[in-house]
Amino acid sequence: MAGGFGVGEGGRERGLSRLGEDLFGQLRQRLPHEEGVAALQRQGEESAAVVEDGHGLGGCGLVGGAQVFGGLAGGLGLLGVLLLAVPLRGGGLHTTATGRLELERAQELLRQYLPPPPARVLDVGGGPGTHARWLVEDGYEVVLLDPVPKHVEQARAYVPGCAAEIGDARDVTLPAHGFDAVLLLGPLCHLADRADRLRALSEARRVVVPRGLVAAAGISRYSLMQDHTASAGLTPDLLAGEVTEVVRTGSYDGSRGFTVVHFHTAAELAEEAVEAGLTDVRLHGIDGPGWAYVVAAGRCGGQEVAQALVADAVATTRLADDQGVFTDASAHILVVGTS
Ligand SMILES: C[S@@+](CC[C@H](N)C(=O)[O-])C[C@H]1O[C@@H](n2cnc3c(N)ncnc32)[C@H](O)[C@@H]1O
Repeated sequence: MAGGFGVGEGGRERGLSRLGEDLFGQLRQRLPHEEGVAALQRQGEESAAVVEDGHGLGGCGLVGGAQVFGGLAGGLGLLGVLLLAVPLRGGGLHTTATGRLELERAQELLRQYLPPPPARVLDVGGGPGTHARWLVEDGYEVVLLDPVPKHVEQARAYVPGCAAEIGDARDVTLPAHGFDAVLLLGPLCHLADRADRLRALSEARRVVVPRGLVAAAGISRYSLMQDHTASAGLTPDLLAGEVTEVVRTGSYDGSRGFTVVHFHTAAELAEEAVEAGLTDVRLHGIDGPGWAYVVAAGRCGGQEVAQALVADAVATTRLADDQGVFTDASAHILVVGTS
């Protein structure tokens, strides 16, 4: 589809679509919040180092993943795995039981809401291209933005034809109304200030066509508590410290390592979407209440048992999704709205 932007240079040799080529010439490639993404930059380098070391997450579940990333994530379990492992899966590493559950459900939900292909999708905070890849395979024209150069490099390698560039969700240096749908599947949890999250959502609304789809994900405020319980890691220290703090406030300050994280309640995520001007706002639990059982199964029975539970967890997630009460029990929450 025509992007409506000026024709750029330099994209054709990378095999980009017309839309990607146009945008490639337009992107100013500046990072307006460089200090704010310094921790992410380190995260990108560290995750790439793990990939290069050949560890990856293949064959590891959430618990196995926590062991792999224990050093990096400061023993934070879910934080280390949900946030660090996700970028890793772009390289074909999306094989953990909880990862499969999350991806299958995210695909199912997004396919329900996206306009039919071909349509233009902007994947903001797209990491190494996990979603961009299947979207391109489905026939969408995808442009991916991420502030971490390593992720952008990985996305370019993993998703042929996808225009991947450095970018910040809070200041998307692209013209208004250039996309039929905008995804924010990751950035919001990295934005500790509500004002920054509202800016990211407002930018998504600005660059999507009128009545276009904006879909944004958050990590549940109750997921850290559930993860530590499911993996038998709820020590008195954690309970008295950040686990309770996160349940009360949604904020993790990065003091145990890794980076600052905001954990949403479903109501808060919907409220932020509305405040940013989105309408027809709807909420979904992505991985549903079953994800914590998958974690526990992996811990008690190993990965084979955890993998065997994935289909059931997907089924109960669909069932639970009709009952709003379960949305906060999901590790990842999706809000969809129109501009
Ligand atoms: C948990 S990962 C999710 C990656 C991918 N969307 C997925 O679902 O597999 C979060 C991503 O958000 C990116 N991110 C963090 N802060 C951002 C910001 N201010 N603007 C855009 N992306 C950001 C990170 O670099 C990372 O790639």
